[in-house]
Amino acid sequence: MSVTQIFPTPSELALQVATQFCELAQNAIAARNKFSVALAGGSTPKAAYQLLATPQFADQIDWQKVHIFYGDERCVPPDHPDSNYHMSRQALLDHVPIPEANIYRMPGEIDPINAALQYEHQLRNFFWEMNYFDLVLLGMGADGHTASLFPGTQAIHEKNCWVRAHFVEKLNTWRITLTPVLINTAHQIVFVVAGQNKAEPLQQVRHGPYQPDNYPSQIIQPKKGQLTWMLDQAAASLISPRPE
Ligand code: 6PG
Repeated sequence: MSVTQIFPTPSELALQVATQFCELAQNAIAARNKFSVALAGGSTPKAAYQLLATPQFADQIDWQKVHIFYGDERCVPPDHPDSNYHMSRQALLDHVPIPEANIYRMPGEIDPINAALQYEHQLRNFFWEMNYFDLVLLGMGADGHTASLFPGTQAIHEKNCWVRAHFVEKLNTWRITLTPVLINTAHQIVFVVAGQNKAEPLQQVRHGPYQPDNYPSQIIQPKKGQLTWMLDQAAASLISPRPE
């Protein structure tokens, strides 16, 4: 079962993402004294992260109890403009009182295979009580990819590892990504998708035949958690919200 929420504009979408992030954080901290979240990269979530850094939202969250992970990372240094970590620092993390120890960066500057092994070790240490992510935020590319699960890559079908590093032919670059093995255990998985260029792939992902090799976002199916699609009107222009 998934939920679809459609908002008129990208800015309204960002406001609602920040609002729901804040609510989920407050609920998780009240229930389990911590909130673990994997941030999405790319450009779409940046506006929501910037809103979360404003007092209207930041003052509602006990950042000492927030633990930030990443859904994927480009294999670049942490201060590189392409780094998802760099984007999240500039938009959010440099502006809120979160302890540095609570930010778990994917080390994009080191050998990718070692980076994936290191990150998996960190994640397995953190989730040793079998509690998994309270929230995984995901974007979706115009080719239907999510995180760094790109069409035609083996990471889509990974059955054991939580983190994989792979060379993405299409981009001619290495990426590090969480795999569906971990993503699908999250309590809440939220796709944040905006823009007319996402309308056609979104229709394929949501209502086309099941073909995750071509549309990897289809592999995201929470085992017990809730899947929510938070869309702007442009991205949703080819789908009508209907119960799954
Ligand atoms: C990345 C992201 C990736 C992103 C989509 C959408 O590292 O690029 O994790 O999965 O979410 O490509 O990107 P936009 O939001 O920029 O369209």
